[in-house]
Amino acid sequence: MILKGKKIILGISGGIAAYKTPQLVRLLKKAGAEVRVALTASGSRFVSELSLATVSGEPVFREMFPPLDLPGTDFTRHISLGEWADALVIAPATANTIAKLAAGLCDDMLTACFITLRPGKPVLIFPAMDGQMYRSGSLQRNIALLTGQGCTVIEPENGDLASGQCGTGRMPEPDVIAQRIGMALQNATPDSPLRGRRVVVTAGPTREKIDGVRFISNYSSGKMGFALAEAARERGAEVTLITGPVHLDTPVGVERLDVENACEMYEAAKSLYGLCTVFIAAAAVADYRPELVLEGKLKKNSSHLQLNLIRNPDILAEFGTGKRPDQLAVGFALETGDGLEEAYRKLQEKNLDLVAFNTFDRKTSGFEVDTNVLTLIDRNHTETVLPLMQKKDAARQLLDCIEQLMHSGR
Ligand code: PMT
Repeated sequence: MILKGKKIILGISGGIAAYKTPQLVRLLKKAGAEVRVALTASGSRFVSELSLATVSGEPVFREMFPPLDLPGTDFTRHISLGEWADALVIAPATANTIAKLAAGLCDDMLTACFITLRPGKPVLIFPAMDGQMYRSGSLQRNIALLTGQGCTVIEPENGDLASGQCGTGRMPEPDVIAQRIGMALQNATPDSPLRGRRVVVTAGPTREKIDGVRFISNYSSGKMGFALAEAARERGAEVTLITGPVHLDTPVGVERLDVENACEMYEAAKSLYGLCTVFIAAAAVADYRPELVLEGKLKKNSSHLQLNLIRNPDILAEFGTGKRPDQLAVGFALETGDGLEEAYRKLQEKNLDLVAFNTFDRKTSGFEVDTNVLTLIDRNHTETVLPLMQKKDAARQLLDCIEQLMHSGR
């Protein structure tokens, strides 16, 4: 959402990763951004000007000096393009381009945009090159200079490189770059009360061991909690995600703590109770765990087996009942059938500021699926009934509610 209407210059220099940039332009455009491309001479050896002009719907900027014979030519475009932008993204950034930026050289449209960008506008630099080049003292010195100047330089990823070697030097995939740009623009837009605040999110299932090879668990996939963590990060919050075992990638910019069982989740959460402004419990935490965990594999030598279960700590209730006036506790209540009353009970008992009553049908809402149906109930008993929507959108709506509570003083 944050990319909608934003004006982005994509500076492309001459590395093999430039082949990924038309896809990046497409993603940014799809998210509603306006994109103009500044392509260096070397960059044009790796990606075609025509491809970039086609996907961006704009002419590609290469030469600082415009053709003199075209009507309507902007003769000072080396200044106006930089002034137009909300953000400058350089991907891939070669060692040569990074050195030019650090030295203040200005001999093509990419470097001119860097110099003429308005103060405070984010600059994101994605170095991509051979691992040896990336580690070189000169390059690291130039990166340190640019970082000191306020640029965000994103460390390249580890993996296979064009040289045939394996190491650090790969440009992140376009979707990761797009997320990074969204985060940078969000941080540059200080409108959310969540900005700079610590938000803790619990997500996923817990596994309570029976013996060395078996456990009690549930169907939670972590999707709802991960969507919340991502949405809070988009609004500039410092997010810690405490998750049970799931198969999901960590949202960019989010700190992740992996745990297995309820007691581990409780210990991880407890250490953050005092530090967070908002605590969102989306995890499906097992209420009980086996009293004894048997070592090795339990043998089947009788027709019946009785398991003694004992209560797990209630992570959210402990936060909710002990929270300070400046903290907010947000919980979920997954109920089968008409469980609205149960949601109200949890709101009361756990001293929550907001509870999301989560319907469950295994096809469109609840565990595992990408969509959800929630009714948000705040501490003043205001109900917001959300229709069926993607979990990512439901997460944003829930955060809107949290922001309103923060604005209203609670
Ligand atoms: O992970 P997904 O597949 O995307 O599915 C999302 C979800 C259905 C798991 C999620 O949206 C959801 O509803 N989570 C809460 C599940 C639930 O039934 O919680 P509960 O009614 O047992 O607990 C109420 C609240 O207390 C929850 O916020 C829970 O995280 C918290 N709790 C519960 C027990 C416990 N020991 N500690 C807790 O913090």
